[in-house]
Amino acid sequence: MTIDLAAVRDDTPGCWDRIHFNNAGASLMPRPVVETVIRHLELEARIGAYEAADAESERIAAVYRSCARLVNCGPDEIALLENATRAWDAAFYSIPLVAGDRIVTGRAEYCSNYMALLHVARRTGAEIVVIGDDADGQIDLDELRARVDERVKLISLTHVPTSGGLVNPATEVGRVAGETGAMFLLDATQSVGQMPIDVAEIGCDFLATTGRKFIRAPRGTGFLYVSRRQIAELHPPAVEVGGAAWTERDGYTLKEDAKRFETWEVSYALQLGLGRAIDYALQLGLESIWERVRSLGDLLRRELTAIDGVRVHDLGATKCGIVTFTAAGFDAERLFRGLRAQAINVDTSTPEDTRIDFEQRNLAPMIRASVHYFNTEDEIGRFCAAVEALT
Ligand SMILES: Cc1ncc(COP(=O)(O)O)c(C=O)c1O
Repeated sequence: MTIDLAAVRDDTPGCWDRIHFNNAGASLMPRPVVETVIRHLELEARIGAYEAADAESERIAAVYRSCARLVNCGPDEIALLENATRAWDAAFYSIPLVAGDRIVTGRAEYCSNYMALLHVARRTGAEIVVIGDDADGQIDLDELRARVDERVKLISLTHVPTSGGLVNPATEVGRVAGETGAMFLLDATQSVGQMPIDVAEIGCDFLATTGRKFIRAPRGTGFLYVSRRQIAELHPPAVEVGGAAWTERDGYTLKEDAKRFETWEVSYALQLGLGRAIDYALQLGLESIWERVRSLGDLLRRELTAIDGVRVHDLGATKCGIVTFTAAGFDAERLFRGLRAQAINVDTSTPEDTRIDFEQRNLAPMIRASVHYFNTEDEIGRFCAAVEALT
């Protein structure tokens, strides 16, 4: 199925008078998503927020089904949280680690994840093992196989890094985890919404993602998938009435599904927006979205490479819609500001985002331009002309 470009752009007022290549930061919400959020806020204002939640309970329950369809799991395996970091934390901090345990990760691990690994390693005496890259720049599967033994309790992998077009081979990593019995936590913040994701095929125990990026949902949304085989085994890092009931004076009972990782107080308006954004993506089809994002990403890389002094830095055998580049003699911040002044939205990627990768490759801060299916070939042409004129 091909995407009706005119229709999706008509639904996206933000792309009418600016070039939005910051979909890896936050994409533009389609109109039906904004309308869904506003409708619920207005209902809260009109009849009361608790009463609005009751009135919309069926629609709220449907959000779990939408998340489940998006990543191919059961709705009972979904916890709604306010961003990917909280989702990732809820899983990671519930995994019991002790001195001598090993956590295996890759070079593209996201800053907050790696700092959490450092925190827990220091607290428990567990050890972090960073696997190198292969010739394509993705996690080296041979090294991974060689280094995962019975001491490895967790493999923590970022599927698509915040600072590059790399798509790590999550399914192959899942196979290694499955063969060795290590738990597998996948940070899919930058991949869900731009490509098909199937947790059954990947074989991960946990997947964390956010709403505002390639799913095109509002800020302040995210979700965690926890495999049914892990839910009963794991105690959430914080106990509260969202995930448990105070069933006796000296005890409590955790919820039986992934909701044990949730908090009680949430924005139902935003959650409904998340559900609407996922339904919008499912209607377009994740295969169609992926095909278009990949082809726009490749075109942008080709056109940027043709500009004198511009170097594209994306790694991986498979590359996605995130494109990172530098221009000789031009620092990223100045280029970012020059583009912003022309209503062109991009972001910068700095060593603070993925320090191991930056240090390994001796990279300077880069411009991150990230495309989505509603972007056009014409925008890529105009973007590259603007970069050329500025540098
Ligand atoms: C790979 C990756 N993981 C995690 C996060 C954190 O997501 P959130 O800001 O929704 O917590 C980001 C955000 O940029 C990211 O790129």
